[in-house]
Amino acid sequence: MASRIPAQFIDELIARTDIVEVINRRVPLRKAGKDFQACCPFHDEKSPSFTVSPDKQFYHCFGCGAHGTAIGFLMEFERQEFRDAVEELARAAGLTVPKEDEATPKGPDTRPLYALLEAAAQLYQRELRQHPQAVRAIDYLKGRGLSGQIAASFGLGYAPPGWDFLIGQLGRTEQDLRHLIQAGLVVEQDGKHYDRFRDRILFPIRDRRGRVIGFGGRLLGDGKPKYLNSPETPLFHKGRELYGLHQVLKAHRAPKRLLVVEGYMDVISLAQFGIDYAVATLGTATTPDHLRLLLPQAPELIFCFDGDQAGRNAAWKALETCLPLATGQQEIRFLFLPEGEDPDTLIRQEGVIAFEERLRQAKTLSDFLLEHLAIGIDLHSMDGRARLGSRVAPHLERLPAGLLRDLLRDRLSKLVGVALPNPPPAPARRPGAYRRPSAPPPHRPAATPLRLAIAILVQYPELAALVRDLDEDWRQLNSPGIPLLTELLGTLASHPGLGSAALLERWREMEGFAVLRRLADPGLLAHVPAEGLAHELAGAIQRLNQEALAARSSTLFNRASTADWTEEEKDALRQAIQTSRTGSTS
Ligand code: UTP
Ligand code: MN
Repeated sequence: MASRIPAQFIDELIARTDIVEVINRRVPLRKAGKDFQACCPFHDEKSPSFTVSPDKQFYHCFGCGAHGTAIGFLMEFERQEFRDAVEELARAAGLTVPKEDEATPKGPDTRPLYALLEAAAQLYQRELRQHPQAVRAIDYLKGRGLSGQIAASFGLGYAPPGWDFLIGQLGRTEQDLRHLIQAGLVVEQDGKHYDRFRDRILFPIRDRRGRVIGFGGRLLGDGKPKYLNSPETPLFHKGRELYGLHQVLKAHRAPKRLLVVEGYMDVISLAQFGIDYAVATLGTATTPDHLRLLLPQAPELIFCFDGDQAGRNAAWKALETCLPLATGQQEIRFLFLPEGEDPDTLIRQEGVIAFEERLRQAKTLSDFLLEHLAIGIDLHSMDGRARLGSRVAPHLERLPAGLLRDLLRDRLSKLVGVALPNPPPAPARRPGAYRRPSAPPPHRPAATPLRLAIAILVQYPELAALVRDLDEDWRQLNSPGIPLLTELLGTLASHPGLGSAALLERWREMEGFAVLRRLADPGLLAHVPAEGLAHELAGAIQRLNQEALAARSSTLFNRASTADWTEEEKDALRQAIQTSRTGSTS
């Protein structure tokens, strides 16, 4: 058997991986409601029935029934072995797969960090309302034109002055203190500890899934550094995150357009004026990770830059980062603002209509590219046009096959006046991905109460707590799935935060994985509305309890005489009879 990778490591890996990113890199996804869709890579189809859920970190095809986690996807799509798939994802997440006998993962367990960051965000938000010094913060925000409503909707907070506000609130034990340091909230220096954020307005930074992963903290006036941000932590990598993305996705199930700006304040002011589809990089240039995150979310992406030379340089850098990903499926454009203005100042000056007019006139990627490369070239001369051609050619080569490359090639050949060579043929379909010619109907197991209970628990592990309040007679049942259900509940009791994908992966190398995997098929629960799941689960457990009592009483009845019954057995029989009379479930 393959060497065991510790379950804790797999939990961590699933928590740090985004299945949408993993799949989108191989099969371009499109946003559909809160999920993502594509034509299924595992069978031939014309309309998309392959769905990826960022909430559950699961993919699922309604056509052929293929489903699984990010690890499972790599195993199916790339034909990778389990360990290779884990290693690839670990590399991307910056983790080291522990060797066979190492029991603990290299990185810290991130789950307590998420909880701490959320708690800190709540506390800072509370302090903005009630700390005596927060009046200054509120005045500052009002002075910048922010409404209380928009401040609340972005969860703005206030870190009070002093060295140990947060330590006092959240860092009472050694372990909590260590977690605060890992989360970037507390600084350790010469054996002393102090709060990182003091007397600043705090902007909580959420990941796409809405979890607080860091903060930006602004001074209440001039001074340096104007913004203090969370350092790189196991959860926060500023080159991969975008401020405001979660907010945009909350406001729009499928945004038509995304605007990339530079500052926290830009995002918030724009939202206050109704442009609620802006995100900000966190003081970094646009990275390929940013683009991989943004491009699938909307058909149009507009970058917004200052009109000065620095802004133009930054825009050109962004363009170069875009090239390898620009298929033409999404429109990518560039907006240059008047010098000295940012979206925050501009929208306050000229209002939303004028600002939207600017957006409409933003330069297309190909206009900006040609314009930029033509600087200093006289296009009236043959020689100049040829020079432009040779400047553009290497950029054309960096574009993937697609609409945009064709369009740009056409434009260039018209400009230059000669036909350019044909693009190389489109790459053949990946050899690794196995496609079934047409979808076989997914085979689905019959829905017995036991299977239903396990299916609900593996797909909605957060409901496990509910089972603890129910009777436990089912534990005595003699059916093959009972040990699995018992173990599942045991695991969820000791690891309450475990998500669906991490839970399933814990079983991969254990008995019962095949069953669990089949029951993780969202199609099995498609007929149950989300709000009915708890009820279904309770019902299934109660039916199991009845089965257990019925089985018990029938063995008892089959005994020759009640003379040698224990008191406990008699009680059980009375209870069984009573339950069958009143019919405890409906
Ligand atoms: P800006 O200076 O444009 O920020 O820097 P802003 O949001 O417009 O700030 P205001 O309007 O003066 O309040 C853009 C981004 O660069 C990062 C922050 O992410 C900021 O939002 N930055 C800037 C820092 O991290 N540290 C700094 O000291 C300054
Ligand atoms: Mn600003």
